[in-house]
Amino acid sequence: MLRHSHNFQNILGKTMCGIVGYIGSKPACTIIMNGLKRLEYRGYDSAGIATIENGILVISKRAGKVADLEKIINPTELTSTIGIGHTRWATHGEPNDINAHPHSDFSGNITIIHNGIIENYLAIKKKLLLDGYSFKSETDSEVLAVFIGDLYKRTKDLEKAVRLALTEIDGTFGLVVMSVYEPNTLIAARRGSPIVFGIGEDEYIIASDASAIIQHTRQVIYLEDNEMVVINREGYTTKTIDNQTTNGEIHELEFDLKSIEKGGFEHFMLKEIYEQPSTFRDAIRGRLLIEEGNVKLGGLRVVADKLRNAKRLIIIGCGTSWHSGLVGEYMIERLAQIPVEVEYASEFRYRSPIIYPDDVVIAISQSGETADTYAALREAKLKGATVLGIVNVVGSSIARETDAGVYSHAGPEIGVASTKAFTSQLAVLSLLALYLGRLKNVSSIEGKRLAEAISAIPEKIQYILDHSDSIKAIAKEYAHAQNFLYLGRGYNFPVALEGALKLKEISYIHAEGYPAAEMKHGPIALIDDNMPVVFIATKDDVYDKILSGIEEVRARKGKVIAIASEGDTQISKVASHVIYVPNTLPMLMPILSVIPLQLLSYYTAVERGCNVDMPRNLAKSVTVE
Ligand code: F6R
Repeated sequence: MLRHSHNFQNILGKTMCGIVGYIGSKPACTIIMNGLKRLEYRGYDSAGIATIENGILVISKRAGKVADLEKIINPTELTSTIGIGHTRWATHGEPNDINAHPHSDFSGNITIIHNGIIENYLAIKKKLLLDGYSFKSETDSEVLAVFIGDLYKRTKDLEKAVRLALTEIDGTFGLVVMSVYEPNTLIAARRGSPIVFGIGEDEYIIASDASAIIQHTRQVIYLEDNEMVVINREGYTTKTIDNQTTNGEIHELEFDLKSIEKGGFEHFMLKEIYEQPSTFRDAIRGRLLIEEGNVKLGGLRVVADKLRNAKRLIIIGCGTSWHSGLVGEYMIERLAQIPVEVEYASEFRYRSPIIYPDDVVIAISQSGETADTYAALREAKLKGATVLGIVNVVGSSIARETDAGVYSHAGPEIGVASTKAFTSQLAVLSLLALYLGRLKNVSSIEGKRLAEAISAIPEKIQYILDHSDSIKAIAKEYAHAQNFLYLGRGYNFPVALEGALKLKEISYIHAEGYPAAEMKHGPIALIDDNMPVVFIATKDDVYDKILSGIEEVRARKGKVIAIASEGDTQISKVASHVIYVPNTLPMLMPILSVIPLQLLSYYTAVERGCNVDMPRNLAKSVTVE
C-alpha cells in the first residue's frame, strides 16, 4: 500500500506490549501513565515507568494492571519532563515485578523498554556473564539493556552504543532508551515491532501505537525496520541503525480522540458495534460509482492489469479476518468468476504453497501486525506473487509490505473481539468483487444494482441496531448454556463461524460454527434440550434447506434461535426465537446477519460478568507465533 523499502529480518514480535516515551515541557509521568492506559486494550500483564529525577533514574514497575502501578507511584514527586513507560505481555520469564520493564544496565544509569524478542540473547548473556555482569530478571530485554551499558562503557556515546548493540542482535525490537548520561535524549528504534514517533509543539512522544499519541499531536513518523530516531530538546534525527540518515516522512494521523474513547457506552465493543453504520459508510466513501455501476479503488490502480489477468486469488488471514476472507471468496467467485482460495495465514506460511506468477495474494488484517499474516505475505512475495492488503491500521507492517491495497477505514478498534473491522472488511471485499466483476463480465446494469445495494447497507445496519432489544432477552435466557452451535449456508456459513468465535472469545461458552448441511454428518449428535442452535436463515436460494435443518434440530428438542429476513412469516412457527434483519442481496447479507450475532455474544458475556473488552488470554494483535 505504502511503498517503502524494507530490510526485514524477522517478524516475531510481541506488540501486545505497549511502549510510551516522552520528552517535552510537561511532567512526563502523567503523560506516560495516560498513554499506557490508552494501550491497555492490547493485553498485558505488568507495567512500569522510569523518569530522570534530579539526575537519577527513578523506576517503578509492577505485575498487574496500570492501575496497580499507579498505586506505587506518586506523580507529585515525579516532576521530570523526560520518561519512558511500558506494558509487558510475558514471553521470557513469568509476569512479575522483576521481569517487568523498564530494564536497566549494570550501572543503573541506562534504562530501556523493549517490545520484541532477542533471539540470540542467550549467547550475548553468556558473553556478558563471562565479562562479570549479572542479571536480575529472566528477560531477553534486560540482556539488551546490559549489552547497551557495556557498549556505552567503551564508547561513552549513547547513540553509538545503541546502534552497535542493535547491529549485533538477531530478532525484533521496538525500543526506547533513556540514560542519565544524556538526560535530555531519548533514542527509539524499530525492527518488526511498530514504533510511532509523534512530533508535538515543544514535545515529542513515542509509542508502539498511535492511540497513545493522538491526544498530543497528529504529526507522526512511522519508523521503518532498522530505523531509529534520536530525540533531544532541540529536535530529532532519523537514521538507520547503520548510521545512514533517513528522510523520516511525516504523516498526519487520520482518526480523532473520540474514536478511542467509550463515548458513553459501557464497553468499547458495544460502541464499536454501534459505530458500524458509520464505519461501513467510511469504508465505501468515495469508492462507489453508482451511476456507472462501478467502483474506484485508487490503491489498486497500480495493479489493475495484474488483477485483470489473475488466474487465481489467494486470501490469507487469521480469525475474524479469515472469516471475512471466506465471505470474500463467495463474493468474488460469484461476480468475477476468478477462482479464490482462502487460507489460514499460519498454515500457508509453513506448507510451501504453490504460487504461480499470475496469482494475486490478498492479506486481510485489522491490525496489520499479525505475525502469521505478515509471514505468509512475505512467503507469497518471495514466491513471486503480487501481494495486496485489506488492512485497517494505516502505516502498519502488513500495509507497508504489500504492493498495493485498500484500507478498510474502520477507525481504531479497541475491543479485543473484532466487530466493526469485520463489517468494514466485508465492505471492501464487496467493492473488490464488484471492481473485479466489472473488469470481467458484470454489466453496468448489474453493477449499478449492486452498488445501490451496497450504499443502502448503513441504514439497514442502523435498523438492526435500533430494533435489537429482543437480543438482550435471548442472551439472558441462554447465558448459562455450556455450548452453542451456529449454522449457516452459502454466504452465511462464514457468519456462523464468526458468530461462534465471538461468543467463545468473550463469554467463554464453547461454541462451534458449521455449514448447516454438515450438521447431519456429526454435530447433530450434540443436540438435546440443552443445546441452543443459532441458524442464519435469511431468504436466499438455500432457505428451504435451512428450514429442514431447523426441523431436524427441533425434532431433537434443541432450542432454535433464527436470524431471519424481515417479512418471513414461516420462520416463527419453527424457531424458538427469531431476530429479523432487513432484506438485501444475498451476497451482502453477511454484513447484516452478523450484527445480531455480535450483540448476542456481547450481551451474553455481560450477563455472565465477563470482561468484554479484555477477555482472558487474548491480545488485540497477535504478533507472536
Ligand atoms: C476475533 C479477533 C481475532 C483477529 C485475528 C486476526 O475477534 O479479533 O480472531 O481477527 O487475530 O487479527 P488481524 O485482523 O489484526 O490480523
